[in-house]
Amino acid sequence: MSSSARKSPPPPCAIVIFGANGDLTRRLIVPALYNLSRTGLLPPRFSLIGVDHNDRSTDEWRGKIHEFLEEQVGNSGEGALKKVDDKLWSPIADAMSFLKGDFTRDETYADLKKRLAECDKAKDLGGNVLFYMATADRFFPVIAQKLGESGLVDMKECKGFRRLIVEKPFGHDLESAKSLNACLLKYLREDQIFRIDHFLGKETVQNIMALRFANGLFEPIWNRDRIDHVQITVAESIGVGTRGKFYEGTGALRDMVPNHLFQLVAMTAMEPPVSFDAEDVRAKKAEIFKAVHPLTLADVVRGQYDAGAVGADNVPAYRAEDRVAPDSTTETYVALRLTIDNWRWAGVPFYLRTGKRLKARSTEIAIRFKRAPHALFRDTPMGELDADWLIARIQPDEGIRLRFNAKRPGQAMALESVAMDFKYKDYFKQAPSVGYETLIYDCLTGDTTLFQRADQVESAWGVVEPILEGWADSNPRQFPNYAAGSEGPVAANDLLARDGRSWRAIR
Ligand code: BG6
Repeated sequence: MSSSARKSPPPPCAIVIFGANGDLTRRLIVPALYNLSRTGLLPPRFSLIGVDHNDRSTDEWRGKIHEFLEEQVGNSGEGALKKVDDKLWSPIADAMSFLKGDFTRDETYADLKKRLAECDKAKDLGGNVLFYMATADRFFPVIAQKLGESGLVDMKECKGFRRLIVEKPFGHDLESAKSLNACLLKYLREDQIFRIDHFLGKETVQNIMALRFANGLFEPIWNRDRIDHVQITVAESIGVGTRGKFYEGTGALRDMVPNHLFQLVAMTAMEPPVSFDAEDVRAKKAEIFKAVHPLTLADVVRGQYDAGAVGADNVPAYRAEDRVAPDSTTETYVALRLTIDNWRWAGVPFYLRTGKRLKARSTEIAIRFKRAPHALFRDTPMGELDADWLIARIQPDEGIRLRFNAKRPGQAMALESVAMDFKYKDYFKQAPSVGYETLIYDCLTGDTTLFQRADQVESAWGVVEPILEGWADSNPRQFPNYAAGSEGPVAANDLLARDGRSWRAIR
């Protein structure tokens, strides 16, 4: 990222995608490259090598990818023609070549080495290579190992940069995350590794830093003296769709909490870094996970959706979804209460919740300030006299809202909670970027600020580890416990009610 305006294209390089025929490549990576082409931020010379195990010619690969891109652009509602613009697509199309290879075999890496040398010779890429692991996570260790053993990421042997993007999920628990880190760090240096959490690419998430640190207004009140509590919601209205098999072994906690939700916690809670240098920012974020008070099962509520209606659509229960066990105990919802044991946040609870098939898609960070201390308005019913809220809306309707009390017109001194709104699309006349192009650009330019460091990932897993262990020993008996289209299980309300608080409505 991020403190300076982005103007210059990255240096020439080769981009190697492992998992070239996979969902991620066509749904996110290639569209991100297309968006970089639109903003003139593709490398001036580059090769795009797709590696996968299927038999496919370069023409076939290019054709398939183009088809998907056409579909996405067509559905995006952007542009009058809603067609792929050939001027933007042709630098990508020209750079593409397919390499058939099994990720677990040495020959693949020997072939890749040869292909990279040819591309470098033809296009003068300075030896720069970005490797992208867009495969199932079981291949991450073997790809890292084979890249290492074949000398492809060895900075002593290679000229130019050698970087590796590692997708989510990064491990399954603390132990597996540690072992993946150990494997990566055996072959690569930390600054060669880019662990992606796509939430960090979202402009509205980065905007939290701008809000906090580019304004004199908020930081002085950003602490336990003024803030009552924080609510972080990542609600989804979609179900598991075609990902039943993956989700069965994952669940909402692993899928969303130590990564996406904790990134939002870190952005909200971190101390100001001394600069926007990657290491300064990452060090401040890492401190937060170290300061989280150990969780117990009493701090967490899990849920699983039943059949119900989301908007006008009747939808099935989780247990009736494709490739999901009819008696599945996988959670599709999790709410938790955490506290951060440091000077700024002691005694301020952070309530987190995320779930599928909830009432609406809504991701927000809501900061609730303490009530006015003086009882001037003691005759005003407390229900009406709400405390002030600052709400960072991450998606949809990206923006920031400040809620405060104002006098209702009329003779009586009646109060009402009103809102001041900043909306990205009204102000900047464009939707904020969704993330992947920012992250890929940052990898191409070597900026690690928006990527997770090994210690960060491990401490995040460390925070949820007691819950994973506790749940493993106790199957939930009451599943399913919330209807699709609702706001989640009733028990999640109790988590806040115990503290005399309640969740904001999901809308
Ligand atoms: C992914 C999870 O990492 O994030 C999905 O695996 C989830 O289950 C998705 O739906 C949410 O991302 P976004 O950008 O759509 O909010």
